[in-house]
Amino acid sequence: MRMFPEQTDTSGLLQTAYEQAIAHLGSQRGARPRDPKRSRDLLDTAMPVAGTPAAVTIARLVEAGTAGIQPTTDPTAFGYVFGGTLPVGIAADWLTTVWDQVAITHNASPVTAQAEMVCERWLVDLLGLPANTVMGLTSGCTSANLVGLAAGREAQLRRFGWDVNRDGMQDAPGVAVILSEQTHASVPRCLHLLGLSGQMHYARTDEEGRIDATHARQIARRQHGKGLIIIGQVGATDGGSIDPITQLSEIRDEYEGWLHLDAAFGMWAAASPELRPLVTGMEKADSWSTDGHKWLNCPYDCGMVFCAHPEVLAHAMAIGASYLDNTTSNVRHPMNYRMEVSQRARALPLWATLHHLGKTGVAQLIQQGCAAAQCIAQRLEAEPGIRILAPVRLNQVLIHVGSHTLTQHVAERLAAERVGWFTTTTWKGQPALRVSVSSWQTTVHTAEQVAEGFVRIFREAKEGNQNHG
Ligand SMILES: Cc1ncc(COP(=O)(O)O)c(C=O)c1O
Repeated sequence: MRMFPEQTDTSGLLQTAYEQAIAHLGSQRGARPRDPKRSRDLLDTAMPVAGTPAAVTIARLVEAGTAGIQPTTDPTAFGYVFGGTLPVGIAADWLTTVWDQVAITHNASPVTAQAEMVCERWLVDLLGLPANTVMGLTSGCTSANLVGLAAGREAQLRRFGWDVNRDGMQDAPGVAVILSEQTHASVPRCLHLLGLSGQMHYARTDEEGRIDATHARQIARRQHGKGLIIIGQVGATDGGSIDPITQLSEIRDEYEGWLHLDAAFGMWAAASPELRPLVTGMEKADSWSTDGHKWLNCPYDCGMVFCAHPEVLAHAMAIGASYLDNTTSNVRHPMNYRMEVSQRARALPLWATLHHLGKTGVAQLIQQGCAAAQCIAQRLEAEPGIRILAPVRLNQVLIHVGSHTLTQHVAERLAAERVGWFTTTTWKGQPALRVSVSSWQTTVHTAEQVAEGFVRIFREAKEGNQNHG
């Protein structure tokens, strides 16, 4: 039996997907997957030999999804830094799929290349970056970090007349890298890939998790004579702390280094006139990475790398092949600004999200997240036995309720009773529940309800603990 597309009722199939999508978005969602085991059983068959009709395949996927998806579009999904997806982004993403556009060269999809160029201009303005800054769209912030750090490596090795594309890394001059224990785990991964593993120097952090600039300066002085890359966090993943950017930029200036800022979600504070003072000096960096799929509420995958030195980035990402039309001048070729060659036309949902929200809408989205995080922190801090481990600067809250066991128990009860989905961490040696408010659906009202539910569950858990001994 052949199962080729000519037998597929495309419009029926899309109708099913549409109905499922609407049902999902309108449903009473829970804080955790309903039945992950069922989901696995539905997916984990032997690979069909003769294929399966598309309608049957999609019906099975719907069933597996209903059982096994983590409800991340829920306003109480506080795990990791999920973000939600705005309806406009979903619609644009559907069209992107149907149009099957590829972001590679201008001639492969003019609309994608043009949308990317417009997003670059809008974002450079919105985020207050230097006027000549260029942007590449990546799969996420990890890949954006890789590109930004590759540009930094390129610039620093050039100071010694070393062309890394030509000369490689084997006998390259040293490049010291300064980071901190709060630097996101993706950064060391990127440094490993870039051949900089042996050159990582960890600066101390203060009680809030911010890099100690005095210690960073001491490291820079000790490493003087090498190239220098300093990596700052604008919104650390656990507590949301923001490094002293201006001081880091002064060290960069003194040692002719490169400053890269990992601003996966914190970057968006710059879009709000109210919150902008939190990220003062951000424009002084050389490269930045952020995500659209976190706090901006674009669909996955949407990462962005910005670089204030277009020529350095272009050289770091250099690629050429006779079949590729990526050198025609005066038009944009998306592949020249990042690592991937072919990739989804991420610029289209990004353009739609920015066009829909406007400057005011982005600012409101970010301010709303901060207000909800503050609300949760304030309500919980008032409860004896609960501590908020770090000042709430942005959208992240670190909640200490006691031992690892109690923390895990509370997280499980919160999910089981649909109060919210919280992930856990250890912050400066203390177990904690993490809150990341990053969905457009999470309001201060949601935060009040969540805090109320949290306090109830915490009291029950504490009581249970005492009763058991
Ligand atoms: C600060 C920070 N940097 C980088 C990343 C990695 O981003 P992505 O998962 O989009 O690759 C994250 C992810 O949570 C993050 O919080």
